[in-house]
Amino acid sequence: MLAGKRVLLIIGGGISAYKCLELIRRLKERGAAVTPVLTRAAQEFVTPLSVAALAGEKAYTDLFDLTDEAEMGHIQLSRVADLVVVAPATADLLAKMAGGHADDLASTLLMATDTPVLAAPAMNVRMYEHPATQRNLTTLAGDGVRLVGPNAGDMACGEFGPGRMAEPMEIVEAVGMALADGPLKGRRILVTSGPTHEPIDPVRYIANRSSGAQGTAIAEALAGLGAEVVFVTGPAETPRPAGVEVIEVESANDMLDAVRGALPVAAGVFAAAVADWRVARESVSKIKKEKGKLPTLEFAENPDILATISQMKKGRPALVVGFAAETDDVVEHARAKRERKGCDWIVANDVRPETGIMGGAENAVHLITEEGVEDWPRMGKDEVARRLAARIAEALEQ
Ligand code: CTP
Repeated sequence: MLAGKRVLLIIGGGISAYKCLELIRRLKERGAAVTPVLTRAAQEFVTPLSVAALAGEKAYTDLFDLTDEAEMGHIQLSRVADLVVVAPATADLLAKMAGGHADDLASTLLMATDTPVLAAPAMNVRMYEHPATQRNLTTLAGDGVRLVGPNAGDMACGEFGPGRMAEPMEIVEAVGMALADGPLKGRRILVTSGPTHEPIDPVRYIANRSSGAQGTAIAEALAGLGAEVVFVTGPAETPRPAGVEVIEVESANDMLDAVRGALPVAAGVFAAAVADWRVARESVSKIKKEKGKLPTLEFAENPDILATISQMKKGRPALVVGFAAETDDVVEHARAKRERKGCDWIVANDVRPETGIMGGAENAVHLITEEGVEDWPRMGKDEVARRLAARIAEALEQ
C-alpha cells in the first residue's frame, strides 16, 4: 500500500512518543521507508538508537551536526520525503509550526519542506483545549497541514478528554489517505455530519437520532479519492473518520461558524441532521422541578447552514450537496428543497422508521440534480458514500 513511499517522521517530545516505535514498524510493513528525526525533548522519551534500529536508517537529531550537513543538508532532508509526519505533535511543536519558527532541526525541516505535512497532536486535555492551541490548529489547517486525532480517553497525566495521540494504525491510515493519488487530490472538501445538540440548560438538550454514519462514510470515501477533507461533526456516536481534519461542534450555530471558518472549499456535502430550532433562551442554571408547574420552552429558528452556503454571493463552493430526510413524497419534497435552498444536488432518503435507515447500516437514496432524478438501489452506507464521492470527483473534473 505504501510501497516506494518515503515518510520523514518528526518525533516530538511527549509521552506518546513511545507509540512511534510501533508506527515505524507498521509503516515499514506496508513498504514505506521512514527517515526519523527526534527533537531534543523526544530523546527524553525514546532513544535515537531504538528509533534508528526499527527504521533501519539513521535517526537525525541536531541542526548543527556538521557531518550530516556534509552528508545531507537540512534542506535536502526536508525534501526527500513524499510526506512529513509529525507524531506526537506536541502543543509546543504545533505552536512553532504555526508561528514559523526554525530554531532546531525539526522546526527547520518543517519550514523548509515543500512536501505535505500530517500532524498527530498529543498533549494534556487542558493544553489541547487552550485557545492558543486551538488557534494554532486552525492556522495549520489553513496552511494545508493535515491532522489525525487526537482521540479522547484516559491520559498518561491522569486526566480524561481529547489529547491522546491517534493510534499507530490510525496514523498509518491517514498516511495512506494523504498519499492517495486520486481524482480529488489537491481538492479541499467540507462534510457536515451527525446531529446537533441544542441546549435547554447546562444538563439538558434537544437532539435527534442521527448516528453520523453516512457523513463519516462520505468523508472517508472522499479522502480515499485523495481529497483533503474537513469534517464538521455534531456529537455523533460513529467513530470519527481517520485521515481527515475533524472539527467537533455542539449546536447549529457552532456548526455554521465552523463551516464558515473552513471555507474556501471546492465542494460541500451537508449530511448533518441540523436541528431546525433551538431553545430561545438557554437557562444558565439547571431548571428546577416545581410542583404543579410545567416549564414552557420557547423556540427560535436556527440558521439553515446548507441554504446559507448555497446562496453565498462570493466564495460559494463549486458544488453544494444537501441531504433530505423525508417520510413521505420523498422525491417531490426533495426537489422542492433543492430549489428552495439553492444547492446543486440533493441526496434524498426515506427515513420512515420501518425502513430502518436512520441509524442503520443501509441507505436507499435518490440523487436529485438539475438534470433529473436517479434512483439508487438500497445498499450499504459505505457504498452510497463511494458512489457519491465518485460522482463528486466527476463533477469537479468538468
Ligand atoms: N440543513 C442545514 N441547516 C439546517 C437544517 C438543515 O444545513 N438548519 C441541511 C441538512 O444538512 C441537509 C438539508 O439541509 O443537507 C436538509 O435538511 P432537512 O432538515 O431535511 O430540511 P429542512 O429544511 O429542515 O426541511 P423540513 O424540515 O421541512 O423537511
